[in-house]
Amino acid sequence: MPTVLAIETSCDETSVSVVKNREVLSLVTATQILSHQPFGGVVPELASREHLETVNYSIEQALTESGLDWTGIDGIAVTAAPGLVGSLLIGITAAKTLAMIYGKPLIGVHHLEGHIYANYLSEPDLQPPFLSLLVSGGHTSLIHVKECGVYEILGETRDDAAGEAFDKVARLLKLEYPGGPVIDRLAKSGDPLKYPLPQGNVSLPAGGFHPYDTSFSGLKTAVLRLVQKLETTETEMPVADIAASFQQSVALALTKRVSNCVRDFGLKTVTVGGGVAANTGLRQHLQQAAAQQGWRVIFPPMKFCTDNAAMIGCAAAEHLRLGHRSSLNLAVQSRLPITEVMRLYET
Ligand code: KG4
Ligand code: ZN
Repeated sequence: MPTVLAIETSCDETSVSVVKNREVLSLVTATQILSHQPFGGVVPELASREHLETVNYSIEQALTESGLDWTGIDGIAVTAAPGLVGSLLIGITAAKTLAMIYGKPLIGVHHLEGHIYANYLSEPDLQPPFLSLLVSGGHTSLIHVKECGVYEILGETRDDAAGEAFDKVARLLKLEYPGGPVIDRLAKSGDPLKYPLPQGNVSLPAGGFHPYDTSFSGLKTAVLRLVQKLETTETEMPVADIAASFQQSVALALTKRVSNCVRDFGLKTVTVGGGVAANTGLRQHLQQAAAQQGWRVIFPPMKFCTDNAAMIGCAAAEHLRLGHRSSLNLAVQSRLPITEVMRLYET
């Protein structure tokens, strides 16, 4: 049962956690949302500077809260890819330094594999195969989880990630960043059927639509055109109805692709991760489809859905158990397909 100290700094959360196998002993997360809010999105330089300011304190705090000292730590885990290079560098430098000082193995972790492992934190008995829907500000992926380190990407977005679409539409509606929670709140008092909007279809050259891929840029443009039209006809922008209609389109688009994957690959369990997993409309539609079509959908607690080091530690503990180690020369990578996670290890 390996115990690891894990560091996650791939985007705008500085997070450190001590994880014993699938049990979280401590989790310290410093969010930077307020720093990026005035800019309407994550500013990479600002993100790395804040990681640098908070990472050492977060490591100390996570270790103290775990009740362990360094002798109780079997490995140092760190998100090595994908993410913002300047941000990843802060985490990996801290992790390598700790690995060298305390003579512990280094375990680089793929950020998306971390999101998949978040499911095991709340459902320790979960077994592959299952389908993982990852929907955040940077990712929209449908991943067939076969076993540790063995993944197949079934579907992806061709352009904007789901969370990015929420953030861009919120900006169009002059709402604050991040847009997802605001749109979700407004949608509760709006009519989702008021404005029919596209549902993220990707046309195939031979005709018809891709069964698993999505495109959200057309949906975003449709909202822009709608807003421009309503500006000329309405005295007050019907923001709640637009939010509800947009949210419904995203939820239906994702649910349809999840259903297609479950059907075509004979899967029985679907897990949802990333910030958009909080979305009320998405949850409702997925739960309804699961009940109607006879599969199970799992939403881990939100603290494990959004970026956190506990999920990185959980993935690392499994790799460590399997004998996987990273080189102290491990480099960060802004992009790395999840199908290539084993490139992070020497053996
Ligand atoms: O996973 P996350 O915290 O960070 C990364 O992007 O890695 O996801 C943040 C994204 C943002 O785009 C935010 O607008 C979206 O998740 N989000 C939501 C909701 N809460 C957060 N989107 C829709 N509905 C929500 N309730
Ligand atoms: Zn993430």
